[in-house]
Amino acid sequence: MALFGKKEKEEIVLPEKLPQHIGFIMDGNGRWAKKRGLPRTFGHVEGAKNFRTIVRYCKKLGIQNISFYAFSTENWTRPLEEVTAIMNIFRDYLNDVQELLTENTKMVFLGDKDKFAPDLREKMIKLEEDTKDCKEMTLMLAANYGGRDELARAARILAKKAADGEIKPEDINEQSIADELYTKGLPDVDLVIRPSGEYRLSNYLIWQCAYAEYYFTDVLWPDFGTDELDKALVEFGKRNRRFGGV
Ligand code: FPP
Repeated sequence: MALFGKKEKEEIVLPEKLPQHIGFIMDGNGRWAKKRGLPRTFGHVEGAKNFRTIVRYCKKLGIQNISFYAFSTENWTRPLEEVTAIMNIFRDYLNDVQELLTENTKMVFLGDKDKFAPDLREKMIKLEEDTKDCKEMTLMLAANYGGRDELARAARILAKKAADGEIKPEDINEQSIADELYTKGLPDVDLVIRPSGEYRLSNYLIWQCAYAEYYFTDVLWPDFGTDELDKALVEFGKRNRRFGGV
């Protein structure tokens, strides 16, 4: 089945094969605001609005798994005012996500919840619990997330299991590591999208992106709308994925 995105000037035909998991690195909010002479926090507000737009569009397209890099383990070093503003945007979102349940969307947070304020932590835990049986789409939000931190955590869990005699060190394999990641049971990333002209992964899902395709664009995240996503999907459709084979 071909999917069609309606355009004002042209009609884009999306590829038959869409990614099973798209990872979005929501970069460029600060520059978006600066270009308009606004404080950086305005950029994050617009970025969060666009996040909702893209989630809805992915749902419409039938993409089964989407993940977003909202806040890294390193982002705490930003000025307190900016961190507080992002936490408040996050809080507003958590207070207003009834649509997840009505739309049959499962919410999974990637990252250590312990560093968040208690009210945020409780809302995150409740939302995961409330949506755990939702089947149509999984929405992952990486918050206080770092790929290396996630792997170190998995190593600690496995080392403890070995020390307790639950497993043998020689039995540790790729699957047992994957099973201790925040993404347990979820598919690897097929397509990473990073707007704003930066060509790096920035510690995002480093294990899960081992065979991902990458799409970079100069467009800043608040401007990365549904038309831009169509372009990324068309480009993804042209890639020849061999997964190390020939
Ligand atoms: C990167 O842009 C963006 C962030 C570090 C924060 C993104 C957070 C949000 C969009 C809100 C999170 C909440 C929800 C509900 C998704 P940047 O600030 O590094 O941009 P710059 O490189 O232009 O400075």
